[in-house]
Amino acid sequence: MPRPKVYVTRMIPQEGIDFLNESCSVEVNPEDRPLTREELLRNVQGKEGILCLLTDRIDAEVFDAAPGVRGFANYAVGFDNIDVKEATKRKIPLSNTPGVLTDATAEMAWALLFAIARRVIESDRLMRSGNWPGWGPLQFIGGDVTGKTLGICGSGRIGTAMALKSKGFNMQVLYTDEIANLTLEKELGARKVSFDELLRQSDFISVHVPLLPSTRHLFSRRVFAAMKKTAYLINTSRGPVFNEVELVEALRKKLIAGAALDVYEFEPKMVDGLAELDNVVITPHTASATISSRTNMGLKAAENLLAMIKGERPPDCLNPQIFQ
Ligand code: GLV
Ligand code: GLV
Repeated sequence: MPRPKVYVTRMIPQEGIDFLNESCSVEVNPEDRPLTREELLRNVQGKEGILCLLTDRIDAEVFDAAPGVRGFANYAVGFDNIDVKEATKRKIPLSNTPGVLTDATAEMAWALLFAIARRVIESDRLMRSGNWPGWGPLQFIGGDVTGKTLGICGSGRIGTAMALKSKGFNMQVLYTDEIANLTLEKELGARKVSFDELLRQSDFISVHVPLLPSTRHLFSRRVFAAMKKTAYLINTSRGPVFNEVELVEALRKKLIAGAALDVYEFEPKMVDGLAELDNVVITPHTASATISSRTNMGLKAAENLLAMIKGERPPDCLNPQIFQ
């Protein structure tokens, strides 16, 4: 039997590739950059399985280019880069990588929270400039964390993990979600509140919603104005959940104290002015970038892809209805 042909749209940790190599003929994008649209459309041709990334737009045109494909495994938990409806209509299975990056992403949200509150990056910049005049009682005064109110916007796996890690800081936890999060209520005495109450009460808001039509630009001018002037925003979810132009405007006007962002509305670009502000911390979409998280994302994507190639329902199926 010929080995099924698999395409991997960009190099991922070797373990995932090795796993696929055991039973498939694997081709990997040799360049360390996202494929151009033309390259993507060309390289999916004749393949039975595609391991794709959040930087690949997977839509009708790609499905047309890969008529023999048996599945797409997204190397990410978010899957707003895929037209799930179109794939489902065509009975093409899809998968993502939930679970394995939960703690890594929650840890990054904490790293960003502390970096923005305690002005870690600004301070680092001063030290490197060689211009530190020595200790000063008014230098780099930031926000307190212990005992403050943490607002979790979206209490799924990652939002829950972020909130649970607040235990050491004795914080009041508020969250928004469609359903009650019994773990957070039981473990932390957290309270489910309306979005507007979250805005009004929180000292830190950490955003963990998926990008959906209903969450696009959820954070806009009105929202920044409704937050405490001393509050900080942390976004490790998806950039377009924020209106980035209006965020820059709010930060310039000091409507909020600061924002720490790992994701951007128009990646890899940032809107004009964002990078010039001192009250932001900006990282390059690396919240899942730990050794275990990225390795396990690769293994999980590979495992899902193999199942789909065999015609089986993958463990992390995004459109299970096609197997019914
Ligand atoms: C990263 O952003 C992911 O969705 O896994
Ligand atoms: C992502 O996995 C989430 O549930 O927040």
